[in-house]
Amino acid sequence: MPQPILLVTRRLPAAIEARAARDYNAHLTASDTPMKDVVTQAAGAEAMICCPGDMFDAELIAALPATVKVIATFSVGYDHVDVAAARARGIAVVNTPDVLSIATAECAMLLILAAARRAGEGERMIRAGGWHGWAPTQLMGTLVSGRRLGIFGLGRIGRELARMARGFGMEIHYHDVARLPAELENGAVFHPTDGTFLPVCEVLSLHAPGGAGTRHWLNPARIAAMPRGAVVANAARGTLVDDTALIAALKSGQIAAAGLDVYDGEPRVNPGYLGLENVVLLPHLGSATTETRDAMGHMVMDGIDAVLAGRTPANLVR
Ligand code: DGY
Repeated sequence: MPQPILLVTRRLPAAIEARAARDYNAHLTASDTPMKDVVTQAAGAEAMICCPGDMFDAELIAALPATVKVIATFSVGYDHVDVAAARARGIAVVNTPDVLSIATAECAMLLILAAARRAGEGERMIRAGGWHGWAPTQLMGTLVSGRRLGIFGLGRIGRELARMARGFGMEIHYHDVARLPAELENGAVFHPTDGTFLPVCEVLSLHAPGGAGTRHWLNPARIAAMPRGAVVANAARGTLVDDTALIAALKSGQIAAAGLDVYDGEPRVNPGYLGLENVVLLPHLGSATTETRDAMGHMVMDGIDAVLAGRTPANLVR
């Protein structure tokens, strides 16, 4: 019996491509950028692996061949896949929850520390040959230890960040659609409204999903409600931030510093950030560790195996 066709839209870690080629008629690519002719390439495919940046909207999903049974996104976020459109066509969608929570939380912590302690400025200074030795007033940032950390979205990644931040003696506050059970809150203070949440956010880290419901959540009014001189980190989705508002706040000092790993419309980065010293910019590398990317790959493959075997995958997007 011929192996089912699996279309992979991006280059994947070697171990995952090897597994795909062993178990499927895998149509692999050497490209790191979104595939342009996905529908044509999907001819005869029963399974597809896509990534953030591949826009699997209703129009594309409607045009996919009838053979497609599962779309597996190599990511926990699935705001680039129209899940309702897939469901309407009987196509399952699977993703990669849990396995990247620690890596992404580490990235958020990195952004918080790098922004608060002006690490980007220091790095640029050395590389530009502009460092002339230790000085008492040089690159003074702000401590994060002992500060109040506000987490917008206390899901798996947000909770990992809270665990790490407790090690810095940070006081954890959160805002989410509903209060979590005590064992998941682990002492974090729940704020049902922005009204009480934002004023305590000396450091704010965003961990809510992308999509229409959270688009430009961090807007001028919310920024104004934060303490002056706060630090902002975003390792979730760029669409959560109104860039014009954040850039203005970074210029005025309302926000002292920001660390960003994700961008609205990425890989385009709002040019307003590029000239600002007080923003640390990373290229969406939250989950980019070897262990994590392998685990993500095995999870998408497990999900595909399950769907094609007629089982319900543990990582089915519902
Ligand atoms: C995700 O998984 O959604 C990240 O953005 C990429 O790891």
